[in-house]
Amino acid sequence: MLITIQDKTFEPFIAEDEISERIAALADALNQDYADKDPLFIVVLNGAFMFASDLIKKVKIPCQVSFIRLSSYSEMRSTGTVSQLLGLQEKLANRHVVIIEDIIDTGNTMSEITQEMLTQNPSSLEIATFLIKPDALEKAVHAKYIGFEIPNRFVLGYGLDYEGYGRNTTALYVLKD
Ligand code: IMP
Ligand code: MG
Repeated sequence: MLITIQDKTFEPFIAEDEISERIAALADALNQDYADKDPLFIVVLNGAFMFASDLIKKVKIPCQVSFIRLSSYSEMRSTGTVSQLLGLQEKLANRHVVIIEDIIDTGNTMSEITQEMLTQNPSSLEIATFLIKPDALEKAVHAKYIGFEIPNRFVLGYGLDYEGYGRNTTALYVLKD
């Protein structure tokens, strides 16, 4: 089924059951890799809220969960401007930190976030991202946990938006060309 938001039409791309299957596998990996590490998951709002919720529900080891966001100006895609990281209250020193993100496009956002976090000397720092567009990457960003590698097309749903709309679908959609 197609959905229309403002002037744009989107078609189904990744189905709900495929998403939940993949997330179960990512959660398994986290349960193993962080079993005795008391990890701190840091969710990047807004886009990662649905992915993070489904992923963390399947994480069965002791862990903490916290949330950050970027100043809205820099949240526009691919501005390449210096962003402000808001809401980070936990001390990261000596913690095993996993950033949970919706999508890595150019990698500029993740590159800035990881650089800022690394100044606090966490014991380890990894990225779990729902999506990555390898062909769009401009920065050397390494995500250890990846839901799906997708082509360089605009996607929507499952937390990701177009002009603030469309975050509330249980499947992922792609801009129809
Ligand atoms: P990056 O800094 O270029 O990696 O972009 C990261 C941010 O751009 C993401 O957190 C999203 O908010 C946004 N973004 C990039 N690609 C898409 C897309 O296909 N759909 C919706 N948002 C996107
Ligand atoms: Mg985002």
